[in-house]
Amino acid sequence: MTGALHFDKLRKMRKFRVKMIETLKNTRNLPDSALRELLESPDAALSGRLKDTAREVCLKVKGPEVLVRALIEWSNVCRNDCLYCGIRRSRSGVPRYSLTPEQILQCCEAAWKDGVPTFVLQGGENPAAALGLVSVVRSIRERFPSAAITLSLGELPFETYAALKEAGANRYLLRHETANPDHYASLHPAGMRLSSRLSCIRELKRLGYETGMGMMVGSPGQTTEDLILDLRLMQEIGPHMIGIGPFIPQSGTPFENCPAGSAETTLRLLAIMRLMFPEANIPATTALATLLPGGKEIGIRAGANVIMNVYTPFTERRKYDLYKGKTDV
Ligand code: 5AD
Repeated sequence: MTGALHFDKLRKMRKFRVKMIETLKNTRNLPDSALRELLESPDAALSGRLKDTAREVCLKVKGPEVLVRALIEWSNVCRNDCLYCGIRRSRSGVPRYSLTPEQILQCCEAAWKDGVPTFVLQGGENPAAALGLVSVVRSIRERFPSAAITLSLGELPFETYAALKEAGANRYLLRHETANPDHYASLHPAGMRLSSRLSCIRELKRLGYETGMGMMVGSPGQTTEDLILDLRLMQEIGPHMIGIGPFIPQSGTPFENCPAGSAETTLRLLAIMRLMFPEANIPATTALATLLPGGKEIGIRAGANVIMNVYTPFTERRKYDLYKGKTDV
């Protein structure tokens, strides 16, 4: 091919890709092949334009404010044995802890004083303990009537979700982790099913929770097709919040020698999600910041609008050891 012809072809390709971003912005959708291209193209200028467009839409739809949440990692006791997770049941050498109701309230108080009126109570999956949190949620609601109370406690009986809602919780984060049932099975022990996870997410929505979904990016065995399935699943369910972060291996887990996910793919997905779900609240996560210095700011520039600051007491936060090198400890 002559130089001029080659140049002409490149120019046409560039024009075509720029059009894809405009179409995604205007219609909130693209065919699978175009999504694959946005996720995989080596064209750095395309990636830059995608992130800039997402930031522009974020500013227009959500405004310039970055929303701050207070993350309270209330317990690392978990009944599950997810293959990727540093607080999985069978990982030894993790000192287990649960905050007392008083400690949880003190964390909320500290956040409130800092002007952070959204408390995110996150912990390992533990249905008995979650039931015990009903009265804690009620106390938080009494003390901070205007606060938003977000829970992230895994899969629980529907009655527990209802009791927590009735006690005053407003929001619930339950990542689906992957929309491909076979991939889900490869990340989780036998007995955990994607279908159960999705029933919980649908029930949370039905109960009136603002509901969050999300996945790890680059978890072992994940393909670009899986990520596209994730986007399609979220289009179908319509989450209010979307949390994603790169997979980061943790020692003492079955995936300890697997490579980490890509920060760049995570950023492109943040941008794509902002264009597909303009109204959603999307955090720039700690996992992203762990892999990429300045990742929270970079995530905001790619379309995220939420930061979660850790309010877990200093004595315990190192024990909430989800992945290697977790910042904010
Ligand atoms: N790397 C990245 N994210 C992880 N999580 C758990 N383990 C890891 C890991 N090794 C994420 C999961 C979970 C959330 C609380 O933390 O997506 O839903």
